[in-house]
Amino acid sequence: MLVSPSILSADWTRLDQAVRLAEEGADWLHCDVMDGHFVPNLTFGVPMVEALHRMTRLPLDVHLMIDDPLRWASDYARAGAHVLSVHVEAPGVCGPGWARDAAGAHPIDTARLHDTLDGLRALGVKAGLALRPDTALDEVEAALDRVDVLLVMTVYPGFSGQSFLPGPLETIRRAAVLRRARGLSFLIEVDGGITAEDTGPRVAAAGVDIAVAGHGVYRQPDPVAAMRALRALGPAAAAAPGEARA
Ligand code: DX5
Ligand code: ZN
Repeated sequence: MLVSPSILSADWTRLDQAVRLAEEGADWLHCDVMDGHFVPNLTFGVPMVEALHRMTRLPLDVHLMIDDPLRWASDYARAGAHVLSVHVEAPGVCGPGWARDAAGAHPIDTARLHDTLDGLRALGVKAGLALRPDTALDEVEAALDRVDVLLVMTVYPGFSGQSFLPGPLETIRRAAVLRRARGLSFLIEVDGGITAEDTGPRVAAAGVDIAVAGHGVYRQPDPVAAMRALRALGPAAAAAPGEARA
């Protein structure tokens, strides 16, 4: 697996050192942007991403957990994002909101979702589509040919250090099967509660290409060893050779 450590869990009094550690063991650097609206927590925004871009050549894997992400997408692209992941549940991504209608269905406007993903690519970034643990793959199946990175959350977005939820393992397995069946090339990324010893092997077996880890890297006694252990868990993109790097 490739590894994308989350800078949110690093010691920010030593940001420079945290970036150097990532450079020793990571493939991407994960940036958790939270706005206090789409999720209850507030983290950082464009200036932090800009600063990280100046500090490292690692590709920045920007995870937007914000309302109306398209309004801000171009700013993050200019700030140096390599991957820009938006949540399908966020207002504006596939319609005005995510509340179920009277029939219990989410009001997915597929044309709007296509425009969102095409719009991300037009900004020169990889188009990432993130799913909360309770969002089914079926909801976004029709858009997968426009996705570069499918980000499957194994915790509810908002905080690092939460416990891994096993339900989305099935989403990961199904995404890997569907990718092969349809000849698609998106990467499957997992985010939430990943550690090299415990949950890493399970997500690797399910078909994950890239693992995000916050506590599983930066709160370990040896973060570089933790990243190397995660990377050793399985060949990247085992289901689709040659696509290890988006
Ligand atoms: C959660 C974030 C995750 C989180 C990962 O909302 O999107 O990226 O920081 O942290 P751990 O690996 O500690 O769950
Ligand atoms: Zn994240």
